[in-house]
Amino acid sequence: MNAPARTPPGLVVREASASDNEGLIDLELQCPIVMKGAEETSDRSPDFFACHRVQGIHRVVLAEIRRRPVGSMAGAIQSPVVRGRPRRLVYIQRGRIHPDYQRQGIAWKLATDLFAWSQAYGAQGMYYLIAPDNERSVAFGGRAGRKWPMHVRLLGFDVSGAGGSQARRIDDDQLVAVVELVNRTHAGEDFFEPLTTDSLAERLSRDGQYRIGNLLGVVDGEQLVAVAGLWDKGAFAEHIRIDRVTGLESRSRSALVVDWGWAPGYESSFAGLLCSLAHEAGMLGRSTLTICEPAPGMVPDPGLGRHETNLSLYTPTIEPPDASAIKGLFPDLLTL
Ligand SMILES: CC(C)(COP(=O)(O)OP(=O)(O)OC[C@H]1O[C@@H](n2cnc3c(N)ncnc32)[C@H](O)[C@@H]1OP(=O)(O)O)[C@@H](O)C(=O)NCCC(=O)NCCS
Repeated sequence: MNAPARTPPGLVVREASASDNEGLIDLELQCPIVMKGAEETSDRSPDFFACHRVQGIHRVVLAEIRRRPVGSMAGAIQSPVVRGRPRRLVYIQRGRIHPDYQRQGIAWKLATDLFAWSQAYGAQGMYYLIAPDNERSVAFGGRAGRKWPMHVRLLGFDVSGAGGSQARRIDDDQLVAVVELVNRTHAGEDFFEPLTTDSLAERLSRDGQYRIGNLLGVVDGEQLVAVAGLWDKGAFAEHIRIDRVTGLESRSRSALVVDWGWAPGYESSFAGLLCSLAHEAGMLGRSTLTICEPAPGMVPDPGLGRHETNLSLYTPTIEPPDASAIKGLFPDLLTL
């Protein structure tokens, strides 16, 4: 792939730091994702970097001209299993170029910086998740092709009216059981990164937003039979959607389900657990509980209203398999 011919004079690309917080928040609000029916932005005030601190190894890069931010992008290093093999990849996300500066090669420059950085962590390629009708992003992230024949599916449950159940907090001596349940449930799904007790402990220690107190479980006798983690992403990101026909604006904040699974035969316990998480999300003031459903029908039905969002997956350096060879797609929502 060749670089676009021109970038604006005086363009500087560098790693963003805490002092860029306000500039990055403002920039994102000025760079809507333009889709057929709506324009969408996120308000990450007051802490732009909060959503990145739960990600493990990551980098946020900024493009500026005379100290004015005109673009940003981020990368997160991951080690998922793809097509049966552990890989080292960088997930490229949150590309935002100011509308006055689009199509001038700035996103390309930011992505190039992130690829170079990711190689120091052993990354051999990148991947993108893109809303199918975000034409600009598809044109950018999808230009090398290699789109997977199955979407990443996000289910958003309406938390209003969700009641709690017998879910309990997980404690330290249950972490081995948590790892077993999560790994059993997602074995063979592409983009799942199998857990170890060490890797789970590391995930739970990255930032106060997601720690052991955020893991809820259901026990039968002494046995842990269902588990799920609740990450309150909505504490740091408000989603703003403007309908392009009516001009109506809606705002929402969502909590996400991460690190989840159940023991054989305990689907209904997991469905009840989802209700508990939805209840907790409602208590936090969130409107939606979002989970990645690896394949259609896999998530036990908690009986809540739902909507579905699809994202296209692109792996420029990995040839996607046939749809029939994909058991499910399960990228890490902690990096979404
Ligand atoms: C998607 C986005 C990040 C692209 O940034 P950009 O700086 O305009 O992209 P670049 O100029 O580096 O484009 C590089 C190549 O990608 C392709 N491309 C990028 N934007 C395109 C567009 N709007 N139409 C067609 N091709 C496009 C082209 O091949 C382009 O090379 P070329 O200009 O030499 O033909 C930008 O449009 C944006 O911020 N959109 C709003 C927010 C958004 O949707 N972000 C992505 C969310 S996942």
